Amino acid sequence: MVVEVEEVSKAFESERGRVEALQAASLSVRKGEFVSLLGPSGCGKTTLLRMVGDLETPTTGEIRVSGLVPSEARQQRLTGAVFQKPSLLEWRSVLDNVRLPGEVFKDEEVLGRAEEMVEKVGLTGFEHAFPRELSGGMQSRVSIARALTHRPRVLLMDEPFGALDEITREHLQIELLSVWWETQAAVLLVTHSIPEALIMSDRVVVMSPRPGRIIEDITVPFPRPRENTLRAKTEFVQLEAHLRSQLDRAAFGDS
Ligand SMILES: Nc1ncnc2c1ncn2[C@@H]1O[C@H](COP(=O)(O)OP(=O)(O)OP(=O)(O)O)[C@@H](O)[C@H]1O
Ligand SMILES: [Mg+2]
Repeated sequence: MVVEVEEVSKAFESERGRVEALQAASLSVRKGEFVSLLGPSGCGKTTLLRMVGDLETPTTGEIRVSGLVPSEARQQRLTGAVFQKPSLLEWRSVLDNVRLPGEVFKDEEVLGRAEEMVEKVGLTGFEHAFPRELSGGMQSRVSIARALTHRPRVLLMDEPFGALDEITREHLQIELLSVWWETQAAVLLVTHSIPEALIMSDRVVVMSPRPGRIIEDITVPFPRPRENTLRAKTEFVQLEAHLRSQLDRAAFGDS
């Protein structure tokens, strides 16, 4: 397993009291596997991703990334992350944003891959543009290219297409799949979109409302490579309806 989350709970303490964000969540992701997390707002999805990426520590339970604790995995550059807001450096061009990990790690090989990654995410011709000159979708592509330059073993994505219109999202999902396919990275993707989870993933994991627990883990049976036409297939639509009812029930009960 590349990612192992075992009985992880997380509580946040503040002057306003204690918030139980996650409760005994267990999840594993195999090498090269694409797993999506779906669940109601506030159920701890971002918190779970941040703990795997070593941006937060569990209150109880254990996390391993390629057998290492998250801080070691981060030091060894096994993880890469993409968040909802692309968080690009405004004063750096597209290429210089994608070169950033190589510069930070002082790694010539990673630096050398920056240009190729920009090309792979379809931004040829925009290498020297600045983030403010790009559309939202293009900015998302830059942050995906940046997260993949150092060939992480695990790619963590938190609603990477959250701010985009549906048509752009659908295109980027298929594009990301073809870029990801070559990297063999294991992916943990947080999304609110059921079709996004289905078209991209090998497995979809559904969480309960806060404190988040894992209530369902379904295997997505469609072969790869996947195309946008899959969305209209009966089996896809049925799975989509099933997940929607699971989420509905999780959030609002049987009422
Ligand atoms: N740094 C923090 N300090 C205190 N509470 C926090 C912190 N981060 C998250 N929480 C709380 O933990 C709970 C889970 O938050 P989290 O961001 O993980 O939810 P989420 O599932 O990602 O929600 P959404 O779908 O809306 O993004 C929330 O109640 C939130 O208020
Ligand atoms: Mg979140």
